[in-house]
Amino acid sequence: MKSKDRQTANTGNFGEVVVSCADLDATLNFFVDELGFRIEMITPADNPMKAVITGYGVRLCLQVGGSGEGTKLRLQIDDRPSEILTAPNGTVVEITNFGNEVILPELRESLVVTPLSSEASWSIGRAGMRYRDLIPGRLGGVFIASHIHIPMGGPVPDYVHYHRIKFQMIYCKSGWVRVVYEDQGESFVMNPGDCVLQPPEIRHRVLESSDNLEVIEIGAPAEHETFAEHEITLPTSQVKPDRDFSGQRFVRHVAEQTPWVSWKYSGFEARNTGIDAATSGYASAMTVRAKRSATLHEPGHENALLFAFVLSGSVNLTTNSTTESAHRLATGTSLTVPSRTKFGLEVLDDDFKMLVVQVGKID
Ligand SMILES: [Fe+2]
Repeated sequence: MKSKDRQTANTGNFGEVVVSCADLDATLNFFVDELGFRIEMITPADNPMKAVITGYGVRLCLQVGGSGEGTKLRLQIDDRPSEILTAPNGTVVEITNFGNEVILPELRESLVVTPLSSEASWSIGRAGMRYRDLIPGRLGGVFIASHIHIPMGGPVPDYVHYHRIKFQMIYCKSGWVRVVYEDQGESFVMNPGDCVLQPPEIRHRVLESSDNLEVIEIGAPAEHETFAEHEITLPTSQVKPDRDFSGQRFVRHVAEQTPWVSWKYSGFEARNTGIDAATSGYASAMTVRAKRSATLHEPGHENALLFAFVLSGSVNLTTNSTTESAHRLATGTSLTVPSRTKFGLEVLDDDFKMLVVQVGKID
């Protein structure tokens, strides 16, 4: 190879972060020997004052003069445990290892009733989207449930992305939204009552919505990363509806194509979304309906999450975990009930409909 053709790490355009140090030798040894960085350049030869090193997609210029305190470097390293190190120059190096498994924090169960009360309960997210937090305490950081409203329809400023999650579903409450998912064919429209199960790390994108789109999104853990996908474009050329994503299949539930069947409580009917089969029983979601005066009594469930959202009509809730009189849950109210808690529901309207989601099992 002629020298003019040679490409090295020091040609072309690049950027580097300058990190100060007092003892270049000790700092360099730490980054090279301890962390596996590669030396790209060092100067001057007789008394090195500056060294350029690269690793993990980062380029650092270690420079004598001052301290590296206050600089924090976060490295994702697959074959090392997560730990926090301090380099000889004071730079903090946080090593993270996501591994393959998403670990959920410790569950803190509670009875949460979130009514659709006032404007104040909405916060404004990006691109004019309005968010209502349906489980403000997040049950110890395990679950998040959001009521999302897009007042103005049209193209949605989204990009292909994916999430590191254990569970995530979106239920269309009103309006419509066009979405596309990795290996699930062309984009499609979700209408009221439709829902999707987004298995872990499936690439997806929201394309456009109607005015006044409202969806309910439920996920675990409550805080999770969203990663931009730069390689895969959607739709993908192959269609693999049975593809396994960390033990889950993608689900597209179309309400209109799903019959109402008897639910486990008499007087109630349900449309099963198929999330139970797609997650091998880890989660389930269904739309249930009943006429006025229907009642149910639940002696106590065993799920990490039992979440309900009143889609239309209203219902009275009674539990043994509160001394209060019955809660009336009007349209738009959500509910989480802790495990092993006796509760009852009494339907107050003929058009009563509710989304019911169960996730995980308690120990
Ligand atoms: Fe997403």
